[in-house]
Amino acid sequence: MDKRVKNKEWYMWVLGLALLLVVAASLGNTIKLTLLENKKVSSIAEIQIPEVPDVKTQRAYGVVSAEEWSSYYSDIYKSYMANSGNTGHGGVRIKYTETDPDIQTLYAGMGFAFDYTEAIGHNYTLEDIAETQRPHKLANCLTCKSADMTAMVNALGTSVYSTDFETVFAAVSEPISCYNCHGNTPGTIIITHDYMAEAMKADIEAKKVSASSVSCAQCHIEYYFDPTTKATKTPYKGLTEISPDAILAFYNSTGFYDFVNPNTGVQMIKVQHPEFETYYGAGSKHKGMYTCADCHMGVAYNANGDPYANHYLSSPLDNKELLQTTCKMCHADLTSQVKAIQENTTKREKQISAMLVEINQKLAAAIEGGTLPQETIDQIKALDRDAQYYWDFVYVENSEGAHNSKLSNYCLDKAEDLAKQALALLK
Ligand code: HEC
Ligand code: HEC
Ligand code: HEC
Ligand code: HEC
Repeated sequence: MDKRVKNKEWYMWVLGLALLLVVAASLGNTIKLTLLENKKVSSIAEIQIPEVPDVKTQRAYGVVSAEEWSSYYSDIYKSYMANSGNTGHGGVRIKYTETDPDIQTLYAGMGFAFDYTEAIGHNYTLEDIAETQRPHKLANCLTCKSADMTAMVNALGTSVYSTDFETVFAAVSEPISCYNCHGNTPGTIIITHDYMAEAMKADIEAKKVSASSVSCAQCHIEYYFDPTTKATKTPYKGLTEISPDAILAFYNSTGFYDFVNPNTGVQMIKVQHPEFETYYGAGSKHKGMYTCADCHMGVAYNANGDPYANHYLSSPLDNKELLQTTCKMCHADLTSQVKAIQENTTKREKQISAMLVEINQKLAAAIEGGTLPQETIDQIKALDRDAQYYWDFVYVENSEGAHNSKLSNYCLDKAEDLAKQALALLK
C-alpha cells in the first residue's frame, strides 16, 4: 500500500473520532437541557419545600431574622432583600396629599389629610414609620410593620397593642420578615397575626381559601382598632362576611368610627387597604385560580436551574417570565388591559371625591347657618359617612381596580348614588 493512502486512512479515523465527540457532546447538552427543563414547575405550589435547618436565635421574643436564615436560603434571601430596591418612582414617592388634594378635606381630622405617600417595598416599613408625619400614640400601628411586634403580641398577649408607641418601637428591629408568614419554619405558611388567624382559621381548614393568600391578608386588609382594648381586629369572621356591604353593616351596627370630620362633625370610617376583600370578593375573575403569590411572587430559577419562590414582590406586569409562561395564553396584552381599568377607576374616584368635597362644604354651611332641620342634617350625615366609605374602599385599594373591576365599580356606583342623594337634600 502506498504511503499516501495510509495517511488518508489516518485522517479518516481522526475525522470520525472528532465527529463522534461532537455528537456525544451535543447529546450531553441535550440531556442537560432536558434535565433543566424537567425542573420547570408551573406554579409556586409545586416547588418542593426544603427541610428546615435547626437555627437558634438570641433575639428577644424569638424571631429568627431574615439574616439568620440567609445562608440556608440564599436565593430566597436575595430575592427578599431585592424589595429594598422598591423605593417608589425612581426613589421619589408620590404624595397623595398633592396629587389628590381633595383628601385634605375628606380626611380632615386624621393624619392622612396631611401625610399620605405611596406604598413602597416591605423592607422599609420601620424607616417609614419613623419618618411619617402622622402622629402615633400606641403600638397598634406597628401591627403590620415588624415581625418582632407580631412575636411580642404572641408572647405577651394583646395588651401589647395598647402599650405606648415609643416603648414598643424601641424594642423592634426586624421589618416584615420570614416570621410574619412562616413563623420559624420557612416554607410552611403559618398565620402569625392573631386577629387573622381568628378570622380565617376555619376557612383555611375547610380549604375555602389558601393559607398562602391569607399570609398576605394579615396586612393587606381592612382592619380596625377596638375602641376599648385598642387591639387590631377584623370587622368580619370568614369569607362570607368580607363584602363591602357586610363590613359597612357591621360598622354601622356598632356605631364604630375612626375619626370625626371637624367641618361637619360626621363620624367617619377610614378604610385601610382592602386588597384581600377586593380580590376575594364577588365578581373576581381569578380568585379560584391564583393566590396573591402566584401574581406577585411567581417562580424563579437559580443558576442550577432549581426553582424557588421569588420573594421579590412585584407587579405581575413587571414579571416578564410570568406574563410569557402563564398569562399570555389568555391575555394578549395585559398591560393595556390593566391600564384601561386603572384609568377608568382613577377618573371615577376623582369625580366622586369632588362630590364628597361639595357635600362637606355645603353641609358645614348648612349646619353653621341653621338652614336645615336637624332631621335632614342627620340624614345627610349618614349618607355622607356611607358614601365616603364606599369611595375609600376603592381609593385606598392598591390595585386601582385591577384586582376586581366589577367590585370596584360596584362600590363607586354606590358612593356616587349616596353622594347624589346627599347633594339633593342640600339643594
Ligand atoms: C406584616 C405585614 C405585611 C404582610 C404579611 C404582607 N405585606 Fe405587603 N405591604 C405591607 C406594607 C406595610 C406595605 C407598604 C410598605 C411601605 O410603604 O412602607 C406593603 C406593600 C406591598 C406591595 C407594594 C410594594 C411596592 O413596591 O410598591 C406589594 C406588591 C405587596 N405588599 C404585596 C404583598 C404580598 C403578595 C404579600 C403576601 C405574600 C404581602 N404583601 C404580605 C405589609 C405587609
Ligand atoms: C390575577 C393576578 C393578581 C392576583 C391574584 C393578585 N393581584 Fe395584586 N395586583 C395585580 C395587578 C395587575 C396589579 C396592578 C399592578 C400595576 O399597577 O402595575 C396589582 C396590584 C397590587 C398591589 C399594589 C402594588 C403597587 O406596586 O402599588 C398590591 C399591594 C397587591 N396587588 C396586593 C395583592 C394581594 C394582597 C393579593 C391577594 C389578596 C393580590 N394582590 C392578588 C394582580 C394580582
Ligand atoms: C409576606 C409573606 C412572606 C415572607 C415575608 C416570606 N415568605 Fe417565604 N413564602 C411565602 C409564600 C406565600 C410562599 C409560597 C407558598 C405557597 O404559595 O404555597 C413562600 C415560600 C417559601 C419557601 C418554599 C418554597 C421554596 O422556594 O423553597 C421557603 C423555603 C420560604 N418561603 C422561605 C422564606 C424565608 C427564608 C423568608 C425570609 C427571608 C421568607 N420565606 C419570607 C410568603 C412569605
Ligand atoms: C385561562 C385564561 C386566563 C389566564 C391563564 C389568565 N387570565 Fe386573567 N382574565 C381571564 C378572563 C376571562 C378575564 C375576564 C375578562 C377580561 O377582562 O379579559 C381576566 C381578567 C383579568 C384581569 C382584570 C380583572 C378584572 O376584574 O377586571 C387581570 C388584572 C388579569 N386577568 C390578570 C391576569 C394575570 C396576571 C394572569 C397571569 C398570572 C392571568 N390573568 C391569566 C382569563 C385568564
